[in-house]
Amino acid sequence: MNQKNFTDQIFNQIIAAAKIIRAGGVVAFPTETVYGLGADAFNPNAVEKIFELKQRPTFDPLIVHICSTAQLNLVCKETDERLFLLAEKFWPGPLTIVVNKNKNVPDIVTSGLKTVGIRYPSHPIAAELIKQANTPIAAPSANKFGRVSPTSADHVRKYFPKLDYIIDGGKSSVGIESTIIKLNPEGFEILRHGIVTREEIEKIIPYSAEAKFNLNIAAPGMMKSHYSPAKQFYILSDKILKKINPKESGLISFTGLYDSDFKLVVKLTENKNLREAAVNLFSAIHTLEESDINFIVAEPVPEEGIGIAIMDRLRKATYNSMRSLEP
Ligand code: TXA
Ligand code: MG
Repeated sequence: MNQKNFTDQIFNQIIAAAKIIRAGGVVAFPTETVYGLGADAFNPNAVEKIFELKQRPTFDPLIVHICSTAQLNLVCKETDERLFLLAEKFWPGPLTIVVNKNKNVPDIVTSGLKTVGIRYPSHPIAAELIKQANTPIAAPSANKFGRVSPTSADHVRKYFPKLDYIIDGGKSSVGIESTIIKLNPEGFEILRHGIVTREEIEKIIPYSAEAKFNLNIAAPGMMKSHYSPAKQFYILSDKILKKINPKESGLISFTGLYDSDFKLVVKLTENKNLREAAVNLFSAIHTLEESDINFIVAEPVPEEGIGIAIMDRLRKATYNSMRSLEP
């Protein structure tokens, strides 16, 4: 054991991965939300490799990960007291804050925006990796563009079988991507819902307005992003049950009430716990993608607190499938 309570094996992997990052390479690493695909945030050539690997359009900016609030001044020029209040309350943890970037952050990281999304993850492996690499790490979720985020090292291997280095930190404890907020003169807007909820943030600074999504992409990073699971994906309703056969379908179950109707069932939670449901959501989708059913059907959850983030992910997952149902 070393001073951080990592096993020697994990600590050696962190050191090896940090070396790759310093040399301009790309590694996958665990965070408490989902696995990330990381590179040195100050090395544009290294960051370019992430976009290539993910087949991600360059107008979709990356989050920069730091390992202490003191590192903020490396990436942003913010002196706004509200940022430090939020950092004190929510960092390290699953909240990304979009603020004005400092000129050292290369344009490729922010897709040319003047702002940068910053996150200080609470996963000890992620934090130690950033520390050992001695540089902030730009990292999107470690999935191919438009697919479900990975919550285990196996999910990452599914997308990137040839990736140089993956640190296996087990299953992500949060399971959905970080909440993203942007500060404006009146307060904050939510760009992406997560397990840090509007109510919790409002205790620190006022909520101003929901960001206006625009498919014409006035501002990169604000496009209405969807992803398509590898199978047709629907939210359970009477209408959907008339269109698909549950005996050919897999159910992502929340209440347990419909389990007996379906060919295959993955339970998100035993007692309708939204936090537990969020943890298990993406791994349920991965499991059903790999099974021999034709359709994935997810039970809706109550749209309150963490349920807002879960319903957001479910709706995004249905986008292409719903379009193909239209007459
Ligand atoms: O939990 C997470 O946030 C994970 C882990 C790895 O940290 N990361 C993640 O990254 O989900 P990604 O790239 O899959 O999603 C980040 C989102 C993108 O939709 C991007 O458009 C938005 O953050 N974003 C990044 N920088 C932004 C900025 N300056 N302004 C607006 N949106 C931004
Ligand atoms: Mg992503």
